[in-house]
Amino acid sequence: MKIVVIGAGVAGLAIGWRLAEAGQDVVLLERGQPGRGATWASAGMLAVTAELQNSHAAEIEFANYSNTLWPEFAKQIEVLSGQNIGYVPHGALILAEDAPALAALERQAIQPGSTLVRADQARQIAPLVTGDIAGGLWSPHEARVDNRRLALALTAAFSKAGGRLLANEAVVRIERDDGRAAAVRTPFGLYPADAVLLAAGAWSGQVEPAVAPVTPVKGQMILLTPPPGQSPSAAVIWGNGIYAVPRGNALAIGATVEDVGFDTALTDEGRDRLRQAAEKLMPALRGWTLADHWAGLRPGSPDGLPLLGPTAIEGLWLASGQYRNGILFAPAVAETMRDQILGRAPVNPAFDPRRFAA
Ligand code: GLY
Repeated sequence: MKIVVIGAGVAGLAIGWRLAEAGQDVVLLERGQPGRGATWASAGMLAVTAELQNSHAAEIEFANYSNTLWPEFAKQIEVLSGQNIGYVPHGALILAEDAPALAALERQAIQPGSTLVRADQARQIAPLVTGDIAGGLWSPHEARVDNRRLALALTAAFSKAGGRLLANEAVVRIERDDGRAAAVRTPFGLYPADAVLLAAGAWSGQVEPAVAPVTPVKGQMILLTPPPGQSPSAAVIWGNGIYAVPRGNALAIGATVEDVGFDTALTDEGRDRLRQAAEKLMPALRGWTLADHWAGLRPGSPDGLPLLGPTAIEGLWLASGQYRNGILFAPAVAETMRDQILGRAPVNPAFDPRRFAA
């Protein structure tokens, strides 16, 4: 089968890799450089506990399933690419400021092995947390990955599996033949396809608005580096409306949630809000240096659930709307989209992109 994938973020790369590995002829079109959109901007957390609490049961199940695929997914990417992607299951600590918040956390212990901890126990896990807390939920097996290295390694794995990546090649339109998606046109060529997969993240709706009701949700993040003698703890920390993810010897703090269209401007307000919220939990961060500040666009969907499956246009598939969970979902998204396109698996009704068709 000739398959054209549009968008080389973590989803497009992972799906393209799985399809190429399955012997398909895959062309991946990327309007910029691979992995430089939301994949690059993200925090790299596989945050089942913190991100999926109030979600639809189908999404919690999907998240847990994808999480179980991650160790093997990471190993395969590393072996094929020869690159380390920094997958570490060093845990996540979700903090509660007061007793009611701690009681609410008890209901969130959806990960096997998660336990409630007292404030002193939380501080043993994360000594920087000297601010006022009542305790937390410790999820020791939760993992994170270096998302930027992941993008580079996935790009290599995709090419090694026989996929063809064309960077700096934006899609002009998806050409139809008798109503069916039959080819993808760019300024440089026409790529015939038996199947077209749209995986352009927040930009998916710009390629084909009628079938991809995806909206951008901006997130700003900052990076703080420590003075001599200090370092972050190994675990990801959540609390006071922010998360703090170790990056080498630094801490990445995220993230704002802004409905401002495709605007990725960095704001002093966003930067200061993240920093102040982090300092309230971890007062020692006042002595850390602001080393970076960036923003990305999450792909949001109207009901908050992903869009994974066929569209109303025959031959056109969609993998978008992962919102805050693009990295966590990547292995399961790759598996289900490969299997759906090859006719081996049904679409999950909760994620069917056609649920929004008029
Ligand atoms: N999953 C982290 C974020 O979207 O900010």
